Amino acid sequence: MLVHTIAEVREKIKEWKKEGLTVGLVPTMGALHSGHKSLIEKSVEKCDRTVVSVFVNPIQFCPGEDLEKYPRTLEADEKLCTEAGVDIVFAPSPKEMYGEGHIMSSDFLTYVIPPYFYVDKLCGKSRTGHFDGVCTVVNKLFNIVQPDFAFFGEKDRQQLIILKKMVKDLNIPVEIVPCPIIREESGLALSSRNKYLSEEDKKHALALSKILFNIKACYDKGINDVSSLTETAYSYLSEHHELEYLEFRDADDLEEKVNADDNTIVFIALKVANVRLIDNIALR
Ligand code: PAF
Repeated sequence: MLVHTIAEVREKIKEWKKEGLTVGLVPTMGALHSGHKSLIEKSVEKCDRTVVSVFVNPIQFCPGEDLEKYPRTLEADEKLCTEAGVDIVFAPSPKEMYGEGHIMSSDFLTYVIPPYFYVDKLCGKSRTGHFDGVCTVVNKLFNIVQPDFAFFGEKDRQQLIILKKMVKDLNIPVEIVPCPIIREESGLALSSRNKYLSEEDKKHALALSKILFNIKACYDKGINDVSSLTETAYSYLSEHHELEYLEFRDADDLEEKVNADDNTIVFIALKVANVRLIDNIALR
């Protein structure tokens, strides 16, 4: 069932809660692919009812980013959700979520601001305010849907860690369920932004997963100092790549690692043909 208003969602949720049913939420920005499908399937399996939100959240895009051209494919998204057994596809307008007016400004809107230590690094460094927008919209979705479980992909690992922290710090009664990265056979992590890549760009984009897989293989052989682990990474890069970061950080609090261990995540971000791509791997 496709629903556009908060009131309609609330009404359904009220009914379900009365019946004692558990609710799963899969927050998305649409342009759904097999990665999203895996989150949806997990929710449908675990929960009595599943809500998928489809909302390209304007306040998490920085000036100059791809808000306008972000792929919007609601009809196909709804079809995928219906086939997967989703009960509600919640696709609000920006006006429904934020009201009319100065929606981009924290001068006029109450924001949820994650701790500075979690956002001054990795994607937060180049995307100022991005995680404020993510935490604010996810908090709103939690308040609207009141899910028992919420499903997030490990592809956006910094987002996942920040949202877990938000739930803990604000005592939000929801369990965050992390879901593994889904990759193409080539190794490329699925992302809605892969739609911007040509076949040739996609070949260059394989550098991300190749670098991560290589680091994991070296770690598995017993190498753990970060400078040795990164040494070979650069050989995968060419003039087609603009590396933003390659960092080793703790899986819980994002502290930087000098020596990798089983609780280390390797994070990478780079641009191919001006498309910003991210990926990560756990070294456990
Ligand atoms: O990961 C995403 O697609 C978005 O950041 C989310 C969690 C749906 C919030 O808009």
